[in-house]
Amino acid sequence: MRRSRLEKLKGLARGPAVEIVVDGRRRTAYTGESVAAALMADDDELELRTTTGGEPRGLFCGMGVCFDCLVVVDDVPSTRACVTWVRHGMIVDRQRGTGFAYTEPEAQPESH
Ligand code: FES
Repeated sequence: MRRSRLEKLKGLARGPAVEIVVDGRRRTAYTGESVAAALMADDDELELRTTTGGEPRGLFCGMGVCFDCLVVVDDVPSTRACVTWVRHGMIVDRQRGTGFAYTEPEAQPESH
């Protein structure tokens, strides 16, 4: 079984385990972790989002200033992963572009 990055560090204690869903997959995270830490610790994945132009972005400042770590949390786009703490049942998706799902514009009724 593959060990996460944090599991490789000796003597590091984590809070109680919680379950979150990331990109449709159930994962274990730990109370006290930021969403960014949980994502990177779980699978060594450094990409948290892509820009509208498709460029990858990840953790940069780690303190809520740069907005490079935007993810979709519980259907709320542009949530900063570095300053959002995990909680049981949280649904996280790596953000693509603006994070808003594209919807067809509603047809406008013709006016006479
Ligand atoms: S890494 Fe800069 S705001 Fe999250």
